[in-house]
Amino acid sequence: MARFPRTFALLALPLLAACVDAKDTPDTGAEDYAAYCSACHGPAGKGDGPAAAGLSRKPANLTTLSHSNKGAFPTTRVMAQIWGYAGAKGRGVMPDFGPLLQGEMVPYDGGDGIETPTPIRLVALAEYLKVLQQK
Ligand code: HEC
Repeated sequence: MARFPRTFALLALPLLAACVDAKDTPDTGAEDYAAYCSACHGPAGKGDGPAAAGLSRKPANLTTLSHSNKGAFPTTRVMAQIWGYAGAKGRGVMPDFGPLLQGEMVPYDGGDGIETPTPIRLVALAEYLKVLQQK
């Protein structure tokens, strides 16, 4: 398996011109969140999942990501956090999310205006996290 770069900036290859709309992404965002994230981050993303109590570090409240970033969802940071773990096995609190990074790659603008080839399930997950943001 290829090593995944730490940051999305390294992947910023404006290779493809097409754009991915949320409506085009598969319906895997909610399912993948429930399967891979909610144990720690909680069913609604508030950082209160059943596994949170046993961790050395408190899982982030994922519903306030936009709020604490001046109202803009920090897509690049979120993607780097999830993606980064595939190359940082065992080093962080969060587990390896290899399966989310497999499959079709689609061009996705993570907020920096650059379309980056991104695993489609990761795109769907990011779009799902956007929906969880507190208004
Ligand atoms: C084993 C528990 C655990 C699981 C499972 C987990 N996380 Fe986390 N997550 C944490 C902890 C603890 C932190 C805060 C400390 C750190 O960064 O390691 C965190 C931090 C984050 C952050 C950083 C928030 C910020 O302020 O930048 C994001 C984004 C995130 N997690 C998303 C996810 C997503 C999406 C999933 C599912 C694919 C997931 N996490 C699964 C425990 C977990």
